[in-house]
Amino acid sequence: MRIALFYGTCTGKTEAVAEQIKDELGEDFFEIFEDVSQIEPSDLEDYDVLFCGIPTWDVGELQYDWQDIYDQLDDVDLTGKKVLFFGTGDQAGYPDTYQDALGIVYLKMLERGAVGKVGFTATDTHEFEASKGVIDGQFCGLALDDDCQPELTEQRIKDWCEQVTKELGVEAAS
Ligand SMILES: Cc1cc2nc3c(=O)[nH]c(=O)nc-3n(C[C@H](O)[C@H](O)[C@H](O)COP(=O)(O)O)c2cc1C
Repeated sequence: MRIALFYGTCTGKTEAVAEQIKDELGEDFFEIFEDVSQIEPSDLEDYDVLFCGIPTWDVGELQYDWQDIYDQLDDVDLTGKKVLFFGTGDQAGYPDTYQDALGIVYLKMLERGAVGKVGFTATDTHEFEASKGVIDGQFCGLALDDDCQPELTEQRIKDWCEQVTKELGVEAAS
C-alpha cells in the first residue's frame, strides 16, 4: 500500500503536527512526506492512502497552497483512494469557521472518487459555534488547536495514530 502525507502551512504549526505524526507512525510509514507546495495535483493519483494536513486561514478559507491544489482537483481522479485529514485551527478566534478547511477539501476529494470516513474524531473537547469540518456529527479528521489547547495536541496525535492504523488495517513502522 502506497501511503503519502502532504501538509500545507503558513506559520509552521501544521508542519510540526505532520512531523509528530511521522514520529508516531515511523519514518518508513510514508512513501512520501512533503509540503503540498512542492507537488502537482496529479501527484495525488500515485498513492493509495493520502494523509492531508490542512490549516484553516483567512476566516474559513484553505491554506493557500492547498487552495492551489483544490482549484485543480477537477482534473484529478481519486477513485478508491483513502483520504485522511488533520488540521490546525483556532476555536476562540474563529468559532464560526473553526477547522472549515478540513470539510471543504474532504467533500471535494469524495466528489473526485476518494473514500472517506477514516480518522474521524469527536467534537466534544472543542468549543465552537460552527464548522464545515464537522460531517455527520464528527470532525472529518483530527482537529487540533495549538492556539487555545496546545496541551492537548500530543495526546490527540497519539490517539489518532492508533485509531487510523486500526481503521486502515496497517501496522505503524516505528
Ligand atoms: C488571519 C487568520 C485567519 C484565521 N482563520 C481561521 C479560521 O477561519 N478557522 C480556524 O479554525 N482557524 C483560523 N486561523 C488559525 C490558524 O488556522 C491556526 O493558527 C493554525 O494553527 C495555523 O496553521 P499553520 O501554522 O500550519 O499555517 C486563522 C489565523 C489567522 C492569523
